[in-house]
Amino acid sequence: MNQPVLDAIRTRRVVRSLLDRPIDRELLGCVLDAGRWATSAGNRRPHRFVAVQDPLTLRVLRAVSPGMFQRPSAVILICIDWDRVAQNQVSRNDKTLYMDVGTSAQNMMLAAHALGLASGPVTSFSKEGVQAVLNLPKHLSPEMLVCFGHPDTAVAEKRTPRKLNWQNMTDWERFPSAPSQVIESKRDESGSERENP
Ligand SMILES: Cc1cc2nc3c(=O)[nH]c(=O)nc-3n(C[C@H](O)[C@H](O)[C@H](O)COP(=O)(O)O)c2cc1C
Repeated sequence: MNQPVLDAIRTRRVVRSLLDRPIDRELLGCVLDAGRWATSAGNRRPHRFVAVQDPLTLRVLRAVSPGMFQRPSAVILICIDWDRVAQNQVSRNDKTLYMDVGTSAQNMMLAAHALGLASGPVTSFSKEGVQAVLNLPKHLSPEMLVCFGHPDTAVAEKRTPRKLNWQNMTDWERFPSAPSQVIESKRDESGSERENP
């Protein structure tokens, strides 16, 4: 069965070895569009994206982001727009604001993967640094940088092997699973374990 969405979900990995080659703006537009279509609590969409392709700005962003191990050709910053949050009368402590950052980022990374681009999220960065570099207004807080580039397929990515699969992450019906349910889920294991998650 041809399942392109499932295939993309299963084969997307963070890729940090990237070629020094720009990304077409049209492709980046597709990635941003995927971010826009992400699921959002209450359909409030409290986010604002800043897309960066200028090589000098990317270098400076990297300098204020200790967790950015890749040298991306583009970065999309996902911000929370606190003016929109206030307009929607959402509490500033509402955790769904941050969940929405994750859903947008995941959609963008899956879209990039489908388009043949590599991607990787970065949250280890100086908020003040990113604010200053991108001249962000006060009502936008930088929450996640998503890096994009063309993958350097000549370099093997380092992966930590782990025995994690959906079966050992899941209990059925109520915690803990009844023994009969565990046996049932073990039967499914062979076909569904993702390589090295
Ligand atoms: C919320 C979040 C923050 C992350 N922050 C960073 C980061 O600062 N730097 C980095 O290199 N990777 C970061 N990652 C990527 C993870 O390290 C990566 O997703 C994980 O190792 C699993 O790899 P995979 O996505 O290829 O399966 C982050 C991922 C998430 C979900």
